[in-house]
Amino acid sequence: MGRPGLRAGSIPAARSRISNVLSVPIATPNSAIRELARVVPQLDLTRQHEALREEIRSALDRVCRASAFILGAEVAKFEEEFAAHVEAKHCVALNSGTSALHLALMAAGVGPGDEVITTSNSMIATAEAISYTGATPVFVDIDPATANIDPSLAEGAVTARTRAIVPVHLYGRPADLDPLLDLADRKGLSLIEDACQAHGARYRGQRVGALGLAGAFSFYPTKNLGACGEAGALVTNDDRVAALARNLRSHGESRHYVHDRVGFNYRMEAFQATVLRVKLKRLRQWTERRRQIASRYRELLAGTRVEMPADDPRNECVYHQFAIYVDDRDQLRTKLETGGVQTAVHYPQPIHLQKAYASLGYAPGSLPHTERACQRVLCLPSFPELTDQEISGVGEMLAAFAGARTTTGG
Ligand SMILES: Cc1ncc(COP(=O)(O)O)c(C=O)c1O
Repeated sequence: MGRPGLRAGSIPAARSRISNVLSVPIATPNSAIRELARVVPQLDLTRQHEALREEIRSALDRVCRASAFILGAEVAKFEEEFAAHVEAKHCVALNSGTSALHLALMAAGVGPGDEVITTSNSMIATAEAISYTGATPVFVDIDPATANIDPSLAEGAVTARTRAIVPVHLYGRPADLDPLLDLADRKGLSLIEDACQAHGARYRGQRVGALGLAGAFSFYPTKNLGACGEAGALVTNDDRVAALARNLRSHGESRHYVHDRVGFNYRMEAFQATVLRVKLKRLRQWTERRRQIASRYRELLAGTRVEMPADDPRNECVYHQFAIYVDDRDQLRTKLETGGVQTAVHYPQPIHLQKAYASLGYAPGSLPHTERACQRVLCLPSFPELTDQEISGVGEMLAAFAGARTTTGG
C-alpha cells in the first residue's frame, strides 16, 4: 500500500474532497459516491488470498509433504490443466512470462542479426526477450482503437532480416491476429503471441496463446491468473516447440546430466504450480466478473468525455485492465486519488523511448499513437473482488470529474 497522497477517507471527507477539487457541488445525493467508505484500491490481492487462504495452505502443505519442489507431478498437472484451459496441445511451465517469450523466440529460430516486429505499447519484457536472442525489436505503431499493434503498419516494417512478429494482447484485449498470421504466412515469419495479460481471451472464438507458433503467459501475482511469486508458461500446438522449450528450461538436459545444448534455469516451482491450480478453477468465474465490471463502467461513463476502447463482438476481452483515455490524465488521476480512488498507468513511457532502448534511435514522435496512448491512458480499479458499490462509486466519481463530452469525436 502507501502510494503518496492516498489515505482512507471517511464518507463525508471523501465527498468534501471531491467537491473541493471539482469546485462544483456533486448533485448525486443518493449516489454510490456517498457510500464509498474507504479507499478503492486499483488492485487488492489480499481479498483474493483471504478467500483462498485455507485452500492454498493445504495445497502448499501437500507439496511440502511430497517435497518435490521443482517441476514434478504438481507442475505436470498444472501444465495439463492450463493447456486445457487455453485449448492448446502443450503447456510448458516456466518461471516467468519473460522466459516464455524468450524460449518461444528461440524456438522460432530468432537469433543475432534478426529483426522482430512488435509493439512499444507494452511492458518492457516484450522487447527484452527479443534482445536476449541477439535480435533487434522493430516497433510498429498501435491502432488507437485497440491500443494493440496496427496490422496495417506491420507489413511496411518487414525487411529481409525480419524473422518473427510478436503482437501483445494488451489489457487482455486480443490483437487483430488474422492479418498478422496472413502476413507471417506470406513472408515466412513466425508469429508469437505475448498473451501475458490475456489468460482465456478469445480471438474469433479461439483462445489466444497458441494461434501462431507459440504464446507466452505470465502468472506474475497481479495477473488474471497470478502465482504467489514468479511464474509463466509457454503454450503451443507444435510438438517440436514444446520439446525444445522443455529441454531449454532445464539446462538443455535430456536425461540426468546429459546436456544437448546450452539451456537455462527457467523451471516452474511446485509451490507456484499448486497455487495456480487452486486459482485456475476460479478463472472463468473471475473473468466473468471482470467483464461485468467493464460493462458497468461503460454504462456509468457513457456520454462523458472518457474514451473507452470498444470491444470487437467477435472477440472476448478478459479485462486484465480497464483502460480509459483522457487528455488531462494526470489531473484526473490526482482528483480521483484525492477522492479515495486509486488508479494505475500502464504504461507511462513506451518502450522505444526508454533509455534501455535509446541505442535503437527512435525519436519522440516516431510512434505517435503509442506515445499519445501512454500520455492519456488511465487504468481504473478492476479486479474480481471489487464490490458493486465500489464499482458504482468509482464510475460515478469519474463521471462527475470527467463531465460531458464537449466536442464530437472526443
Ligand atoms: C505484456 C507483458 N509481457 C511480458 C510480461 C512479462 O511477464 P513476467 O513478469 O512474468 O516475466 C508481462 C508481465 O508483466 C506483460 O504484462
